Amino acid sequence: MDLTIEGKTYINGNFEDCCIGITDGRISAIKKILKEDEHYNFRGKIILPAGIDIHVHFRDPGLTHKEDFSPGTMAAAYGGISCVFDMPNTVPQTITLRSLSDKIISAKKRAYVDFGVYAGITDGNIKNIDELAKKCHGFKIYLGGTTNSLHFNSNNLKETFDKIKSTNKPVLIHAEDNNCLVKHKLKENSLVDHMNSRPAECEETAIKNILKASGDTNTRIHICHLSSIEGLELLRKRSKNISCGVTPHHLLFTAQDDLKPQSHYKVNPPLRSNFDREALFVALKNGLIDILESDHAPHTLEEKDKEFNDIPSGLPGVETMFPLFLHMAKKETLSFQRMISLLCEKPVELLNIPKGKIEDGRDADFIVVDLKKDCKIKSENLHSKCGWTPFEGLPAIFPECVFVRGEKLIEDYEMLGAKGFGKFVGE
Ligand code: NCD
Ligand code: ZN
Ligand code: ZN
Repeated sequence: MDLTIEGKTYINGNFEDCCIGITDGRISAIKKILKEDEHYNFRGKIILPAGIDIHVHFRDPGLTHKEDFSPGTMAAAYGGISCVFDMPNTVPQTITLRSLSDKIISAKKRAYVDFGVYAGITDGNIKNIDELAKKCHGFKIYLGGTTNSLHFNSNNLKETFDKIKSTNKPVLIHAEDNNCLVKHKLKENSLVDHMNSRPAECEETAIKNILKASGDTNTRIHICHLSSIEGLELLRKRSKNISCGVTPHHLLFTAQDDLKPQSHYKVNPPLRSNFDREALFVALKNGLIDILESDHAPHTLEEKDKEFNDIPSGLPGVETMFPLFLHMAKKETLSFQRMISLLCEKPVELLNIPKGKIEDGRDADFIVVDLKKDCKIKSENLHSKCGWTPFEGLPAIFPECVFVRGEKLIEDYEMLGAKGFGKFVGE
């Protein structure tokens, strides 16, 4: 063994006082007593699996004035996330083998934590799905227009699901129906206008189309950032191959809240009513929602500071997601079991990676948390290149230490890790 760590550890749904042995970056033993020369005792703290964020936009390549893989993955590390999965709406879009390889090569030089990538599917590259599968962890489809999105005609869903099935990779979907969005489009001055311009009906139509096209194919389908009661109702009796996610912002904010500046909270799908928000929270607690995803979609303050109608949709969140929920778990708003399922266990099941659980043979990715260290989120303490947060002032608990593959990336809330340590996960 290379090192051992000791403390109150989350194993199989319970906390146990134990020691974890680590060899070559993996967990090699879990016992009551283990002690190597390099031994860390985290008495008085808790040890949890590090989180996985299945939904980030690191804007790299092409839009690196907003974010890039270095500050993006640094922010992830500070927020207790050991692995991120990057979306394809970069410039160029990652819709070819070449653009996937280029993104991976460049991200390897910059990443502080591990990462994976999605290949975007558009009407033009459905035939290349087998080839793209060699370089991606999953696929992404946009059924409706959003920031720099890729066009996809929903008539192609069935054929696409059939092709993706044989790759054994999941497909993640932005579920807002484009025809519906076009029909309701308004000139917008506020968050309420944005909500009315992209009504729940559009999410409902998209999810209906997905369910119809998926039929009895067993393709793994993940519906991203669910936002409405209507969408939720359609997923109540879904088959096992279909999962869904929700973001912190849709759980915490509504279009009617007194949010300032309004433009910072312009996001797709839009923030909706308090009924929607509450229903999402109930679904989060009772297990109807599988995954928490940040949809970290940074834009610069300058870009977010124009006429409401013209500003791009999207807000940052990779660093604050786990800390917000650690605070909620402390306050018993959500159980530790549900939180770990949503941030660690279900994401690794979806993406089939050896992380997310404290278990023999898995990557030694942990966070150490001192539950007494509550704080308020402040943009000046965060690390995304965009420099602002929609969660300003909210209570959170950041991890004190973060281990990725047995390496201490963060110690005493400070970064020890290096750029280029992050690996293309699974390689
Ligand atoms: C995302 C972006 O900016 O890339 N924007 C957003 O409002 N969520 C795209 C997306 O996920 O829809
Ligand atoms: Zn989206
Ligand atoms: Zn997104």
